[in-house]
Amino acid sequence: MLSILLSCGVLAIAIFASCSAAVTTVSVNGTATHSIPPLLLLQNRAFQQVTPDTTNALFGWAPINGTSINVIADPIPLSDALPNSLEVAIPFGSSVQVGFDNEGYWGINVNASWTYNASFYYRFPSASDFSGKITVMLQSSIGAVYASASVPVSGSTTTWTQVVVHLTPSSSPVSTTNIFTVTVDGSSAIGGTINFAMFSLFPPTFKGRANGLRMDIAQACFHLELKQHTLYDMKPSFFRLPGGNNLGQGFSTRWQWNATVGNLIDRPGRMGDWGYVNTDGLGLLEYMYLCEDMEMEPIMAVWAGYSLDGASLPETDLAPYIQQAIDQINFVIGDSATSKPAALRASLGHPEPFHLQYVEIGNEDFFASESYIYRWRDFAGNLTATFPQLKFIATSYPFNPTLDPIPKQYDNHVYQTPGWFAENAFYYDSVERNGTYYFEGEYAVVSTNASDIFGTPTDGRLVYPNMQGSSGEAAFMTGLERNSDIVFAASYAPLLMNIANYQWSPNLIAFDASNVYPSTSFYTQQLFSLNRGTEYLPSTLPQNGTLHWSVTRDAPTNTIVIKIANAGMTAEEMTFELPFNGVHGTGTATVLSGSATASNSPETPNAVKPVTSQIETGESFSYTAPAYSVNVLRVEAD
Ligand SMILES: *[C@@H]1O[C@H](CO)[C@@H](O)[C@H](O)[C@H]1NC(C)=O
Ligand SMILES: *[C@@H]1O[C@H](CO)[C@@H](O)[C@H](O)[C@H]1NC(C)=O
Ligand SMILES: *[C@@H]1O[C@H](CO)[C@@H](O)[C@H](O)[C@H]1NC(C)=O
Ligand SMILES: *[C@@H]1O[C@H](CO)[C@@H](O)[C@H](O)[C@H]1NC(C)=O
Ligand SMILES: *[C@@H]1O[C@H](CO)[C@@H](O)[C@H](O)[C@H]1NC(C)=O
Ligand SMILES: *[C@@H]1O[C@H](CO)[C@@H](O)[C@H](O)[C@H]1NC(C)=O
Ligand SMILES: *[C@@H]1O[C@H](CO)[C@@H](O)[C@H](O)[C@H]1NC(C)=O
Ligand SMILES: *[C@@H]1O[C@H](CO)[C@@H](O)[C@H](O)[C@H]1NC(C)=O
Ligand SMILES: *[C@@H]1O[C@H](CO)[C@@H](O)[C@H](O)[C@H]1NC(C)=O
Repeated sequence: MLSILLSCGVLAIAIFASCSAAVTTVSVNGTATHSIPPLLLLQNRAFQQVTPDTTNALFGWAPINGTSINVIADPIPLSDALPNSLEVAIPFGSSVQVGFDNEGYWGINVNASWTYNASFYYRFPSASDFSGKITVMLQSSIGAVYASASVPVSGSTTTWTQVVVHLTPSSSPVSTTNIFTVTVDGSSAIGGTINFAMFSLFPPTFKGRANGLRMDIAQACFHLELKQHTLYDMKPSFFRLPGGNNLGQGFSTRWQWNATVGNLIDRPGRMGDWGYVNTDGLGLLEYMYLCEDMEMEPIMAVWAGYSLDGASLPETDLAPYIQQAIDQINFVIGDSATSKPAALRASLGHPEPFHLQYVEIGNEDFFASESYIYRWRDFAGNLTATFPQLKFIATSYPFNPTLDPIPKQYDNHVYQTPGWFAENAFYYDSVERNGTYYFEGEYAVVSTNASDIFGTPTDGRLVYPNMQGSSGEAAFMTGLERNSDIVFAASYAPLLMNIANYQWSPNLIAFDASNVYPSTSFYTQQLFSLNRGTEYLPSTLPQNGTLHWSVTRDAPTNTIVIKIANAGMTAEEMTFELPFNGVHGTGTATVLSGSATASNSPETPNAVKPVTSQIETGESFSYTAPAYSVNVLRVEAD
């Protein structure tokens, strides 16, 4: 009998009446211990860096109607930053439209509600008597024309000339296997050669920013939250940039701020850390506008003498890179009257400094270990002297190695199983309160099988987050919230994944050419972000296990906000005791739940979404948290 009782506690509470007595009771302490910090949660064309005269250099491009195209090292390049151009040889004896096309990023979303900006540069390497027009179109892969614009060109144009056209499609095809085409009438251009460089094709962007973000992705990542935060009059999230590993895989391909600002033709791009070229069209200024537009705070990293290939610069070589980091920070916050990088920012249209508090020195320097001792000393030493108002974040393991000056901020990263996250919900409870603060800068459940944590997406790694994982993350997040006196920020990672081509999984938000697929972990982050409260209320501490909670009060609205994560396979009944007068008799429960493997994939994009309903509340009330669930209860008290 005893063994049955024990197992029913683990497996199937509902079946045995005697087990329902095992209700978890949570008593909330009416006195807040700390306020919740205003920061939280979330964090994502021109033949750049390719080898001329190779097939690979033509990736994304294809010839039309017998045209020959090739990427060349142009003897007269468009700019120093862009040495390559597309050489287009018009065939002899052609009487049809000839030219080339681009397939977009695995498709192009053609939408009749939008006007697209298209542009490129061209020149004739040798003057000819060509006189005709270049036609730019959005077409289906089998030739249907959705939008078209033509510009007259003359064979006497031997210097680089920019063409800008606007394309407004006449219909919105469901398919995104569309192409961007550039053609000339073959009979008027017989045998000629035209060089092309720096193409750009943009739909309307979020907030109309040049080189901006896709509206649907920006909306999903940031804007929904902004709207809600405005309701609660709270500041929205931060954005960590330019991304962790994106600082650089190797010394020569490291991220350099000055290569990402100014005219697009002055941005060389670089081989990124994940095997593809970064255009750097999304550069430092675009990142800053993004933060400003979203009222997010940037957490900006500087390259600090170490690349992920393992190479550290010796201390004697650091000086120019410390200066480059100072220049980067001055570009963001410097005084344009006294700083050259700040004057550059002003010349690009933003004379006022941007808002910046946090600067991260390197990324994942726990891989570099000993060299971080002198690199931290010299970077943090010089940057603190130059910018005493800023807070600098160290990226080695906390206190290992011992750093001087002692870091006041550390960035911790962890990719693990749901079980690990639930067990480590208490990690920060035992961390000393001594003036050092923590940023949980990257975390995610990547597999439910501990053997696959460091595997690749083709092993047991999750491709999309699922409810077992997301509820484990939520368990951990209740611990972050309980310890938000020392955990000043937290961000799931990575943020975005194009389902047609990805190097890491899972990610918070998946997308393709025309759709966005918010994951179960996205909704988990959103539930925590939108329901922060302003102060933390101690309550009965959760036990190690699958059920975790955290209680806050949103002072402006006199609302008690209870977050519950059930990372287990059975529903759990709980009783809440709230020591307040005037606790309302009804509140709301917003619940995200599903089976362990329930997941929002492109095939089942809406498998799991948060559902809000009214619940009976009071000074004492009970609530059942479903298996594999994230729950937010909101209860007003007068
Ligand atoms: C409630 O919080 C106050 C302030 O932190 C503390 O002094 C007191 O011990 C707490 N009471 C309980 C029951 O946790
Ligand atoms: C290629 O030539 C055919 C005529 O043979 C024409 O119908 C078609 O539109 C041309 N392709 C493009 C993309 O212009
Ligand atoms: C087309 O554009 C409209 C207006 O911006 C938008 O509401 C709609 O979702 C778009 N359709 C697609 C498939 O992106
Ligand atoms: C598109 O072009 C128009 C007119 O040149 C310009 O006002 C707008 O900012 C451009 N949009 C983008 C996203 O570049
Ligand atoms: C960026 O600045 C560094 C010096 O800080 C310089 O070596 C490098 O050439 C610059 N890059 C570009 C693209 O301007
Ligand atoms: C600044 O960096 C230089 C070069 O690495 C180093 O010699 C110096 O000690 C640093 N200054 C401070 C205040 O850390
Ligand atoms: C905080 O405590 C840790 C040991 O737990 C120590 O290594 C670190 O230097 C301390 N931080 C500060 C700012 O004193
Ligand atoms: C866990 O992953 C390892 C390695 O991929 C595999 O051999 C093992 O069968 C998996 N275990 C479970 C329970 O799926
Ligand atoms: C929970 O379990 C973990 C791992 O066994 C342990 O480190 C931690 O101290 C436990 N926490 C509590 C509150 O029991």
